[in-house]
Amino acid sequence: MLFRHSIAGLSLASIALASPLQHQARQDASPCAQVSASVAAQASAATPTVPAQLAYECITSVPVNKSAALELLDTIVPYWRWQSTTAWLKDPPAEYVEKVQEAVDVWGGLDDIRSKLEGDEYENEFEFGWALYRLMQTTHDGHFVFVPDVIGTVFNWARTVPLVSISEDGEELPKAYAYPDVLAASLGNSSFTPSAISKIDGKDANDWLENWAQYGSLQDRDALYNNVFYELAVVSLGSSGAGMGTFTGGGRGRWVYPGPTTELEFENGTTTTLNNYAKVLVPFDGVTDGESLYKIWFTSTKPTGVTAEPAATATSTSIPAPGYPPPVIRASNNFIGGYYMEDDYSDIAVLSVPSFSSAALGNLSFPDIAAQFLSLAKAAGKKKLIVDVSANGGGIILQGYDLYKQLFPKLTGYAAADRFRAFEETDLLGQKFSAISETIPRTLDTDNETLFDLIANVVSSPLNYQSDETVDGEPFPDWPAKFGPLHQHDDNYTNLFRWNLSDVLTPLNSGGLYIHGYGPLANYTEQPFETEDIVVVTDGYCASTCTIFSELMRQRANVKYISLGGRSRSGITQAVGGVKGTNNWPWDYIQFNAQYTISNLSTPEEGAEYNSTQLGEYWSTVPFDRLAIGSSINVNFRDGIRDGDETNTPLQFVYEESDCRILYTKEMTVDVTAMWKAVADTTWGGKSHCVAGGLGDYGKRMTKRDLTWSEKELSKRRQQWKRSLSIGDYPMNVFTDLRRASLDGNAIMYP
Ligand SMILES: *[C@@H]1O[C@H](CO)[C@@H](O)[C@H](O)[C@H]1NC(C)=O
Ligand SMILES: *[C@@H]1O[C@H](CO)[C@@H](O)[C@H](O)[C@H]1NC(C)=O
Ligand SMILES: *[C@@H]1O[C@H](CO)[C@@H](O)[C@H](O)[C@H]1NC(C)=O
Ligand SMILES: *[C@@H]1O[C@H](CO)[C@@H](O)[C@H](O)[C@H]1NC(C)=O
Ligand SMILES: *[C@@H]1O[C@H](CO)[C@@H](O)[C@H](O)[C@H]1NC(C)=O
Ligand SMILES: *[C@@H]1O[C@H](CO)[C@@H](O)[C@H](O)[C@H]1NC(C)=O
Ligand SMILES: *[C@@H]1O[C@H](CO)[C@@H](O)[C@H](O)[C@H]1NC(C)=O
Ligand SMILES: *[C@@H]1O[C@H](CO)[C@@H](O)[C@H](O)[C@H]1NC(C)=O
Ligand SMILES: *[C@@H]1O[C@H](CO)[C@@H](O)[C@H](O)[C@H]1NC(C)=O
Ligand SMILES: *[C@@H]1O[C@H](CO)[C@@H](O)[C@H](O)[C@H]1NC(C)=O
Repeated sequence: MLFRHSIAGLSLASIALASPLQHQARQDASPCAQVSASVAAQASAATPTVPAQLAYECITSVPVNKSAALELLDTIVPYWRWQSTTAWLKDPPAEYVEKVQEAVDVWGGLDDIRSKLEGDEYENEFEFGWALYRLMQTTHDGHFVFVPDVIGTVFNWARTVPLVSISEDGEELPKAYAYPDVLAASLGNSSFTPSAISKIDGKDANDWLENWAQYGSLQDRDALYNNVFYELAVVSLGSSGAGMGTFTGGGRGRWVYPGPTTELEFENGTTTTLNNYAKVLVPFDGVTDGESLYKIWFTSTKPTGVTAEPAATATSTSIPAPGYPPPVIRASNNFIGGYYMEDDYSDIAVLSVPSFSSAALGNLSFPDIAAQFLSLAKAAGKKKLIVDVSANGGGIILQGYDLYKQLFPKLTGYAAADRFRAFEETDLLGQKFSAISETIPRTLDTDNETLFDLIANVVSSPLNYQSDETVDGEPFPDWPAKFGPLHQHDDNYTNLFRWNLSDVLTPLNSGGLYIHGYGPLANYTEQPFETEDIVVVTDGYCASTCTIFSELMRQRANVKYISLGGRSRSGITQAVGGVKGTNNWPWDYIQFNAQYTISNLSTPEEGAEYNSTQLGEYWSTVPFDRLAIGSSINVNFRDGIRDGDETNTPLQFVYEESDCRILYTKEMTVDVTAMWKAVADTTWGGKSHCVAGGLGDYGKRMTKRDLTWSEKELSKRRQQWKRSLSIGDYPMNVFTDLRRASLDGNAIMYP
């Protein structure tokens, strides 16, 4: 469904409007029965929709099942023990509280929820589920996530009109606009002047939007703010990204009830009321009321098969990247792509990396695409490189290291060390994994499948002390040397350690690759671009592996970072606004490690002994049965600790300004090259677009030169491309859907 008109047309609203009529006709039926009837009447719709309020009435009519809820709380406790930052969340540094987020006592919060349950204070299952979800979400740790079924299995909420936040001239503070208005003015009727949104639901628009932004998963408030809006880099990720922004139910916005309507008041005095809606994600067969909804969808016996959506595989599905020019090379899922710029900017190549998740373009892997593009760009005489990591929620850790080493093969391969919580489970597993690994060769060279499984499951694990090196680059002599524990900040942690990037088992942790500059790729030694010829731009949505990459780029290589957008406030923003933990662990992986150790790695006697420790607390299937279909379930396993930081503060709690902040303009929300040009002007053109910060004399100036024949051709094609852009190119139906997404990674923040 595409917008063809300005907001006055509001064509999208019709999808939610189909249902109120039925709503009226069946007022006597229960809200869930009304949803059921509405779903039945939309048999041909891929995803039926109902008015937001009806969905809310239905989901809040599900009675709370106290014993089941208490069992859920009990069974999530073991997994929360793996979360590395609970002590720091409870008592964060003052600067973090001042500039980033408030403290959260997750264990205290869990106790509160338990006592409210015991005191019958939750009126329905949704109220309970929402309390649990919010407790985790307010930590703003994108790796710490569990979405209860009642929050995400049945409905995703949405608003009909995406917004953008833009500065009139690149200097004035940004204002929110309806994106269809901006498209209409940019690509349609040029005499139409959009009016900015002054109020939302009667409140000052900026305040309202800052408040709404806080429902997101990032920690930085400016990055959260950007995530509210329609953003080209995010949209290019399709269902694997945060959709059209949290305002329209993208990313974490999909789980927040937006109210029945949203009223937008424009500066010109006009008011528009949006009818909010909910997407119905599961069949409603047999659902007649809240009780039956519970029985069918919130127990271990829920219908199977609904999760079997055909996942978009990296190679088979090509998705649009509206506002991006034709690439030199690009993965079909847009996770990585390379572009050349035109005319006076012809010296510049752009590597766009909105994800570090595995991606393939035909037979090329993610690092192959980067390597090919860098060598093509060099061969074509490009002198400068913009790396655009907007929308990058992370992916595979070692792909982050690899991209850095492709750019800086001669520089040190680390900038921060890792650690995890030292507690009973990690100690028991570490002892066992280490002892077994001592009896097994560290090699990929085996035809023995049993042996290979052990190497993949045990030997290559960080719970084997041999997998990592000390901060001095030495091997750990034994498990206790790695485990510690160190008592710090009211918790216990392992000693600091680093990846051994030369490890022969690297492919088992990297999705199959070796790292440029190490092992078989040790012959890769030539740095493609000078430091000052590289600049990185972000929208703040840089999380997980993207933050590992950024720590390397900033701390080791001294590459400058430019941040985009942000709240409608003056001053500098952070460039890296997503979770800076360096590894997430899915709960099912934790469960596997515990069960595998007891059942497969131990004698029966030993297994029984383990079973009587905390390691024996991972048998319940309840957390998995009660998880929203198609949502992620993770803890942050490793902290990143900056090299030389004597305070051992997890990077998650370190505030870091970007080098320069540039505001989005109208053009940039339609044509990504307008943003890249502002970045190039600022870095190499002697024309700063920074509204705060500045790059000083960082980059050498671009020089005017004659264009080659192929550059002239590119310029012509680029002009054709710009002329060809039309409103219909910008999809208005992009929604986060992890059932349909293909994403992987061991340091990834799922949207
Ligand atoms: C409540 O949950 C328990 C499991 O803890 C289950 O046995 C029981 O049937 C549920 N009650 C209802 C009314 O669904
Ligand atoms: C273009 O916009 C102007 C101002 O909003 C309006 O008066 C005019 O009718 C529009 N023209 C068309 C063709 O839509
Ligand atoms: C006021 O601005 C809004 C948003 O751009 C637009 O939809 C509406 O038509 C404008 N109203 C008038 C009276 O111009
Ligand atoms: C990759 O695919 C292309 C075209 O299908 C083919 O020409 C090329 O040989 C393949 N490369 C490798 C390394 O398999
Ligand atoms: C394969 O490896 C396992 C585990 O090390 C070992 O017990 C078994 O004897 C090996 N099998 C063969 C055929 O070598
Ligand atoms: C840290 O370890 C000590 C003993 O080694 C233990 O007494 C203490 O409870 C642990 N602290 C936490 C928060 O687990
Ligand atoms: C890293 O791995 C390589 C190859 O497996 C090995 O030779 C080297 O000793 C390891 N380094 C450390 C510090 O463990
Ligand atoms: C490095 O070695 C590999 C094979 O071992 C070869 O394919 C590649 O071209 C070499 N790269 C360089 C930069 O020499
Ligand atoms: C562990 O053992 C169980 C039962 O003995 C078996 O079913 C399972 O496949 C084993 N798991 C692995 C990963 O080898
Ligand atoms: C461990 O305990 C669970 C129940 O808590 C039981 O189902 C399982 O059989 C036990 N396994 C072993 C090896 O003792």
